Amino acid sequence: MKGIIAVDMKNIVILISGGGSNMAAIVRAAQREHWDQRYSARVSAVISNRPDAGGLAFAREQGIAAQVVDHKPFANREEFDAALAAAIDRHEPALVVLAGFMRILTPGFVARYQGRLLNIHPSLLPAFPGLHTHQRALDAGCRFAGATVHQVTAELDFGPILEQAVVPVVPGDTAQSLAARVLTQEHLIYPRAIATLLR
Ligand code: GRF
Repeated sequence: MKGIIAVDMKNIVILISGGGSNMAAIVRAAQREHWDQRYSARVSAVISNRPDAGGLAFAREQGIAAQVVDHKPFANREEFDAALAAAIDRHEPALVVLAGFMRILTPGFVARYQGRLLNIHPSLLPAFPGLHTHQRALDAGCRFAGATVHQVTAELDFGPILEQAVVPVVPGDTAQSLAARVLTQEHLIYPRAIATLLR
């Protein structure tokens, strides 16, 4: 039986691939700030492309629908993205939030959700799109690093910027120590960016 979709409630679907610390920060902000009452919004589902994603257990503990759409059985990106979109659309999302979701999405998927599709990237975009952002910032001798919440468009890591946070690079920093400092800020700016959109 199709799940009962709350009337007039804005559903947020969060996509993860791993630990889901950004997803958890969003869920906790929604609880703490009563997004259901303040914005008629709720995190209605967490979907992962990896069955072993640690964030699934957290979602289930919070009473949030947690689902796996494993990318491995699919012959190509288009078929996976179609299956993922079918799982997402069952929740009639007002927002689709990529949070540590480590998949390159097809243009068709992006076009389906553009305007309500967000991502967080661990650099001060447009600097350092792509992977290994912290090591690249250190290698470049950056004095500052940070994170960016942006709307997802067809061009990877390049859509309209919604929020950014800056952290200092300190002597002796490694990619790991810098990543940890940035991640702390990610957990602040992602919920703030979403709440601003929900207002
Ligand atoms: C974070 O650095 C985030 O910026 C990137 O994925 C990493 C892990 O995120 N998108 P999470 O802990 O799985 O939310």
